[in-house]
Amino acid sequence: MPTAATRPFDARTDAVLAELDAGGQYKHLQMLDSPMDAVVRMRQPDGSFRDTLCFCSNNYLGLANHPEVIEAGVEALKTYGAGTASVRFICGTFTPHETLEATIAKYMGTESSYTFVSCWTANESLYPTFGEAGDLILSDELNHACIIDGIRLAAVIKKRLHKGVYKHSDMDDLRAKLEKARANPDVTGQIWVVTDGVFSMEGDIARLPELRVLCDEFDAMLVVDDSHGHGVMGQTGRGTHEHFDMVGKVDYFTGTLGKALGGGAGGFIAGAKRGSELTVQRGRPTLFSNALPVTVAASANKAIEILMREPERVQKLRDNTAYAREQITAAGFDIIESPTAICPIIVGDTAKAISMSKRLMELGVFVIGFGYPVVPEGTARLRIQMSAAHERGHIDELVGALKKL
Ligand SMILES: Cc1ncc(COP(=O)(O)O)c(C=O)c1O
Repeated sequence: MPTAATRPFDARTDAVLAELDAGGQYKHLQMLDSPMDAVVRMRQPDGSFRDTLCFCSNNYLGLANHPEVIEAGVEALKTYGAGTASVRFICGTFTPHETLEATIAKYMGTESSYTFVSCWTANESLYPTFGEAGDLILSDELNHACIIDGIRLAAVIKKRLHKGVYKHSDMDDLRAKLEKARANPDVTGQIWVVTDGVFSMEGDIARLPELRVLCDEFDAMLVVDDSHGHGVMGQTGRGTHEHFDMVGKVDYFTGTLGKALGGGAGGFIAGAKRGSELTVQRGRPTLFSNALPVTVAASANKAIEILMREPERVQKLRDNTAYAREQITAAGFDIIESPTAICPIIVGDTAKAISMSKRLMELGVFVIGFGYPVVPEGTARLRIQMSAAHERGHIDELVGALKKL
């Protein structure tokens, strides 16, 4: 049998890991021993645990550790056990899944929704299932990795399905690509325009009104992944479409239940009922993979109910974000401007971002540094994320730590 030293996989993997380590780009997983909240108990290098302020979770509304969200999950576990132990079309759907899908549709303002174990899976289902030969899918260049991979997969599964990328939020470039498509005899089917609602690395938002106008002009369908918009954007936290007063004007959404909407896991497609029906009939992740665990479905349903019941949480998040942006800027840091709860400070070099994040951790503040390949080379950043769970004192401590860098 070949040894670890001679097998190609072992040798090349060891080389990659050594190179990352030498370049200061090695990611170390931080161990937590508490629920996700404004303060978490984090394991220190000496093995002890220490309370640390958390500014890098997507727990935007502070619902991940909400007593009602926990209770709903516990109740579902007691009532339904761990799961159906099979896929939904084979051995049934639990009523909490049906309830959750109705709640999501009400919250998003759509006719219907269908859930998955993650938003990654929802995107991996939507494009290969909805797309056909002769279609064209145009995607914003800064779209999330799971949209990119979902479209790539669609183009492999469906021969002669065309795909293209337009420059980030550049409506002239998108128009040029749509005009080219109109003149292309191979584009005989549906044109799709796909965008994140909130772009996760920059924190900026899609130009939805202009996208809608272009889609209407070229008879294209608009798909928005609003994973970072749920609970954050719009007066009542329904998302980027509410922010632009466009409820009912997006054809399909993908979204996550793993951020503001409970923070456990799960994703969905929301839109017209025919899309959900097609997903049940033909979606490979639906036909060949288990449902969202029922405990998570019940917790997510409760989280959305709380969000709809208590819009003041959205306002608190907004106030916290405004205060943090003002204080961080006053402390001399440049934050990319946006109306979202994502506050990125660009530092350039990946190793620098990682070492700044490490120093903040030593100061008791958890802010993650992102570098290549998550963001383009040379644009590494500290990404600070705000939550309604934060109090003013937490934000002041964050700013105090930043000043010490
Ligand atoms: C825009 C976007 N879509 C999808 C995802 C993935 O969501 P999930 O964790 O539910 O797979 C993320 C997560 O970062 C995201 O930012």
